[in-house]
Amino acid sequence: MDDILIRGGKVIDGTGAPWYRADVAVAGGRIRAVARRLETEARLVIDAVDRAVAPGFIDAHSHSDSALLINPKAESKIRQGVTTEVIGQCGSSAAPLSELSLEEAKHSLLGEEMEISWRSLAEYLAVLESRGVAVNVVPTVGHGTIREAVVGYDDRPPTTDEMRRMKGLVAESMRAGARALTTGLIYPPGSYAKTEELIELARVAAEYGGIYMSHMRDEGDHLLDSVAEAIEIGEKGGLPVQISHHKAVGPANWGRVRDSLAMIEAARARGLDVTADQYPYVATSTGLDSLIPDWAHAGGTAAMLERLKDGPIRAELGAQVTPATERRGGWDKILISSLRAEGNRRYQGWALDAIARDRGLDPWETACELIISEGGYVGMVRFAMSEEDVKTVMAHPVVMIGSDGSCLAPYGRLGESKPHPRNYGTFVRVLGKYAREEGVLTLTEAVRKMTGLPAARFGLWDRGLVRPGMAADLVVFDPDTVAERATFAYPHQYPAGIDHVIVNGRVAVDPNGHTGALAGQILRRPA
Ligand code: ZN
Ligand code: CU
Repeated sequence: MDDILIRGGKVIDGTGAPWYRADVAVAGGRIRAVARRLETEARLVIDAVDRAVAPGFIDAHSHSDSALLINPKAESKIRQGVTTEVIGQCGSSAAPLSELSLEEAKHSLLGEEMEISWRSLAEYLAVLESRGVAVNVVPTVGHGTIREAVVGYDDRPPTTDEMRRMKGLVAESMRAGARALTTGLIYPPGSYAKTEELIELARVAAEYGGIYMSHMRDEGDHLLDSVAEAIEIGEKGGLPVQISHHKAVGPANWGRVRDSLAMIEAARARGLDVTADQYPYVATSTGLDSLIPDWAHAGGTAAMLERLKDGPIRAELGAQVTPATERRGGWDKILISSLRAEGNRRYQGWALDAIARDRGLDPWETACELIISEGGYVGMVRFAMSEEDVKTVMAHPVVMIGSDGSCLAPYGRLGESKPHPRNYGTFVRVLGKYAREEGVLTLTEAVRKMTGLPAARFGLWDRGLVRPGMAADLVVFDPDTVAERATFAYPHQYPAGIDHVIVNGRVAVDPNGHTGALAGQILRRPA
């Protein structure tokens, strides 16, 4: 007796091959058999004749590190068919923490409500595992997190002893199961690192078979220099490189993704293993404080807030930030996505220049007031890329799909903000808008970029394909209707067209919604 039989679907198997019609039988958490016709009994039979059957989607770039602890059902992801998330991205993982970094972490990671009981990555993963999660989790370790734990928010090179301790934390995290070292080189304190430091740490990750994943130093005017730096770190560090959420930011730089993709191709032609991931939108999303230059973040959030409160320093910062913002499209391209303070809440979803007019302040003053009154963190969504570039990157064969979002929910604490729709829509948007409607890529190629390609990238050798013996992570969807419903105005919307999502052989989503199953596993790098 099988657990599940998926009857008669078009199997899009994750390799990029054309679909074929087959039955898929699941038993004991694995795909037991795939055949044109399976004469078998199963506890659950899913009629998939008008449906596509694909491997569960792998989110190659996720920020669910703390959201999975707040709501383990991983709603906004699993409803899209995501069964695995690669967390710890952009240099920022939930661990390792130290007494030095704990206060900032409490602030940025979970808010006051939740207690941080872990320090090491091993301990964090054990917490996640014991609470249960709906999706599989691929751990990585963030360089910014490690630097913060050892050097704090000091804007300086590490001492010899600090460097030794940072390498120790990379090694310890790799031994705990991390599959990558990630960087976020626009975010202090990670951005205080020079290339040499990153190469040295990358070498440690390389010893354990890890890869280097990078939110690069500059995705705007210095995009190509940044790609060169990432490739150099991979080459000198001796490990594969993945360029995170690849794009060109700011109208002056649109079109440069053709040059950056050519650089990736040239590196590959030299034998360097370089790939990229992408989310399918023309808007970015990060903290409003990322507008503030690096030097003003030195010392951490409290020190940064003091600078913003200091009139002359605020004016000096404004003289830098305002022209830089104009160059990236202007204040009206920035939407404020999350505000927690009572008096601020009504501005969620507003453009920054509109808030400024409402308050009778200039936009920079408004940004400062919001950041100060929120105690540092204000979420922003920023329209900064071109549709043409999104399509160019998406069509490239070495680019996989990653949301750059976290698992939110339309209810509870994760539903309070007005977030970027990528949290709910990334995968279904690629399948619906870009594959079916616009033909930017074929459906089978779109599925490959969400399954077989990332599985190979992260060494998930028993996932990402529909094959007997593979872990039974599967999605049954309607290729004719699969679509995003989330919008910038109403982001908390589950998609259309996803019928069943199966994680390790258990149904997590069916046509009635989330089943509550927490069948995800922590996919540690094997020793
Ligand atoms: Zn990033
Ligand atoms: Cu990211």
